[in-house]
Amino acid sequence: MICCAAGAGRHGCAMRLLDPATPLAVTLDWGEGRRLPVGRLAFDRGRALFEADPAYLASGLDLSAGSYPPRPGIIRAQTDRFEGLHGLFADSLPDSWGRLLLNRRAARHGITTARLTPLDRLAGIGELGIGALTFRPAMEPEAAPDGGIDLPTLARDALHLLAGEEAPSLALLQRLGGSPGGARPKVLVGLDGAGALVHGEQVLPPGFTHWIVKFPAGEDMEDIGPVETAYMEMARQAGLRVPDFKLITAPDGPGFFAARRFDRDGAVRIHVQSLCAILEAPPGLTLIGYRELLLATRQVTRDAGEVKEAFRRAVFNLLAHNRDDHAKQHSFIMDQSGRWRLSPVYDLTFASGPGGEHQMDFAGEARQPGPADLNRLADLADVPRPFVRQVVQQVLDITARWPAIAEAAGVTKTSAAQITAGLERAARPFRKG
Ligand SMILES: Nc1ncnc2c1ncn2[C@@H]1O[C@H](COP(=O)(O)OP(=O)(O)OP(=O)(O)O)[C@@H](O)[C@H]1O
Ligand SMILES: [Mg+2]
Repeated sequence: MICCAAGAGRHGCAMRLLDPATPLAVTLDWGEGRRLPVGRLAFDRGRALFEADPAYLASGLDLSAGSYPPRPGIIRAQTDRFEGLHGLFADSLPDSWGRLLLNRRAARHGITTARLTPLDRLAGIGELGIGALTFRPAMEPEAAPDGGIDLPTLARDALHLLAGEEAPSLALLQRLGGSPGGARPKVLVGLDGAGALVHGEQVLPPGFTHWIVKFPAGEDMEDIGPVETAYMEMARQAGLRVPDFKLITAPDGPGFFAARRFDRDGAVRIHVQSLCAILEAPPGLTLIGYRELLLATRQVTRDAGEVKEAFRRAVFNLLAHNRDDHAKQHSFIMDQSGRWRLSPVYDLTFASGPGGEHQMDFAGEARQPGPADLNRLADLADVPRPFVRQVVQQVLDITARWPAIAEAAGVTKTSAAQITAGLERAARPFRKG
């Protein structure tokens, strides 16, 4: 999509808010010209109202995986936890980073943040969201300046924006990175085998595939790119379902972690829902633990193999000391026949978690989970005990290889040592007796 020249001003495209009387049309865009009209969204007294399209009703699909089964009539959002939106649609909104970009764009157009409704924010996503849901009328996307994509420049500008300063790449960052969730700056790009980068929207030139590239936020280790790469490599060796991933090197810096997008396959778009959306529980709600992940996985996928994969992720996060394990760190993807499975993993890194605890508990234990907690968790979800023992041993063997994996990924000695100490702490209860 291009910016209309008529609307372009000093700050790029004109930015208009939705007319409150105009419903937002939701469409599932499978790509390659195939679209399913999903319905219309309006907002009334702090809650979104959804009316399903007859085509969606007839499709037999449930895009919410159970939280909002389609039915005729108006379906009101159940809670105000997602600013009054249904979790199904709120999942298309970005978290703090994308939010900051839209707020900054609005400010440049004289629109205060308070005037942006959740539907305006969805209109801001338009067709550029993660997954396959699209929203119309879409807000005119930022004009994408001509020229190449220089990752170190974007990363530096992102840090300025996070610090509340101005940055010349604001428009480009908004265009390339305004839609994915998460707190860290990131961009969606097309990447080819030779490392060339193009804007990662919709259909890419031949030879390019869709990738997400992450930049450090201010509070991150400086070498977070190599650390996340090494963590993904540990996850791969531990048998988790990982996407293609790589470290994109930079001439004078540690480089950037990049993962192939699991919501795109060439021109095909894949519908995604996070655990947060499915359970109507935003990140940070302490009710969601690994028990809920396992039970939701069983209910949504109806596949014992997927429950085992979810359990493997729980063990990995425990033994890899990934305590930033909130409910938006787990997602499900749906194929066009309506079959769900866990998405490949993402956002695996060394993290201490709030107050030093896991955000998701292991059958009640979040501070120092041990074998008894894992066994209880497994029993709650009918995961067989021999599988638990096998996975724990396998992941312990992999985390013991951390120093070599870290060195291969270019992690600094200081970060590697800090993480080694954390991995030893996490493994301690499993080494007793
Ligand atoms: N490989 C991928 N393919 C498609 N979507 C992805 C991929 N990796 C991440 N995402 C989406 O982008 C979002 C943000 O990614 P990620 O969790 O890695 O970022 P983050 O900023 O580090 O997050 P946090 O704020 O949790 O630390 C995820 O919630 C997920 O929806
Ligand atoms: Mg995340």
